[in-house]
Order: sequence, then structure tokens, then C-alpha cells
Amino acid sequence: MTPGRLVDYTADHVSPDMSFLEMLDVVNEGLVKKGEDTIAFDSDCREGICGMCSLVVDGVPHGPDRGTTVCQLHMRRFRDGQTVTIEPWRAKAFPVIKDLVVDRSAFDRVIAAGGYVSVNCGGAPDGNAIPISRDIAEAAMDSAACIGCGACVAACKNASAHLFMGAKVSQLAVLPQGQIERARRVVHMIRQADAEGFGSCSNEGECEAVCPKEIPISNIARMTREHVRAVLRGTL
Ligand code: SF4
Ligand code: FES
Repeated sequence: MTPGRLVDYTADHVSPDMSFLEMLDVVNEGLVKKGEDTIAFDSDCREGICGMCSLVVDGVPHGPDRGTTVCQLHMRRFRDGQTVTIEPWRAKAFPVIKDLVVDRSAFDRVIAAGGYVSVNCGGAPDGNAIPISRDIAEAAMDSAACIGCGACVAACKNASAHLFMGAKVSQLAVLPQGQIERARRVVHMIRQADAEGFGSCSNEGECEAVCPKEIPISNIARMTREHVRAVLRGTL
């Protein structure tokens, strides 16, 4: 693997109304015109939904605006002429592929280890067949807001995936459909995260501070309770 380095680029013709990624598009258009290699970065929806964008802006995953993905960050947040440092997510479990693109398939493997339900949920009308109280539905929806971007890992000094896993475990642990794998889910997801090289949680709270969906660290507390419960029941 080649060691990374910082490269200086000048972004001309940037409107304050442009998004941060549109600014990078403009820089890349300039590089194409000059016959140079463009800057590789991830994006898809550009609406804060998909979790693909993954830039550390001036040391903060997703940049300076709280509760905002970097695709929803706008250039009016910066001064004309300001130097901005852009880096990829940094974590052992997210190896850099090129420039600002990292491989987040470790998250997919953590989900495949347990972040699913095996019950047949039926079609859309069947969704109303199991009455679920408003409090439970709201709690599940709050945790389901996680878009799997990985900013929590990038912000954590331990590169822990606990906020991501806590959101997924909490979402399914509170719903009746999630009960069958409830104990196995948390044990297997944590085991897979360890195998992928994610670190443990030391309650720094950096994950919560940068999460674009403002997932609270109470999800980690719930995951810990779920894990203790599963281990005490002898779940392997
Ligand atoms: S918990 Fe937040 S920061 Fe972590 S993956 Fe989910 S949305 Fe991204
Ligand atoms: S590109 Fe989809 S959340 Fe940013």
C-alpha cells in the first residue's frame, strides 16, 4: 500500500450556494480540462439519505454542521479564500481504496452477522396486523434513522462501531419482529465487529457528536444491556 499525502487544489468559481460535493465536482471538472487525474470521492443520493458520502472536513467527519451529511453541507459555511482540509474516514476496518474513498464493506459483514429478521413480514398491508405502541414505534424509527455512513467510526479514537451497531440492535430489539434472533443478533454482530478490527467503546461521545442522524449514545447502552442479557442466557 502506498502512503497517503495531502495535495493542494484551488477551487475557483465556487458559489456559496453550492454543496460541498458540487464544489468538488467543479474542482474535478477543472482537473479533467487540464488532463489531470480527478479526486475520487463517494456519493450517491446527495440528499442525506444513503450514507455514501464520507469526508472528514477540517478534522470533523461530515464537516462543521451538526446533524448534517457532507453532501448537505454548503459552501456558504466557508469564507472565500479559506483553506479546507479534506481527508477520508480513517479506521483500520475501513481501508482506503483511492483518495477519499474507503471500503466500508466491514459494515455489510457486521449486518450480515445478525442485523436482520428471519420472520416473513408479509406485504405492506400486513404491517398494520401487529399492533405496536406509539412509543415503541417511535423508538424503533429513531434508531432506524442510522444511514450506515461510518462517521461514528471515523470520529472515535478507538474506531469503534458501537453507535452503528447500537442503532441496528436497538431498532430490532424493541420490535416484535426482531425477537427471534434478539440474543444471537447482538452476540454475533459484536463478534464480527471485533473480527473486522473495530475497537471497543470508551464512552467518549465523539460518535454522537458527528452522527448526521443524531443517533444518541443511549443506543450503545441498550446494546450493552442486550449483550449482557444474551451472555447470561448462554447465547453463543
Ligand atoms: S450511527 Fe450515525 S454516524 Fe454511525 S453509521 Fe449510523 S448514521 Fe452514520
Ligand atoms: S450522498 Fe447520500 S447521504 Fe450523502
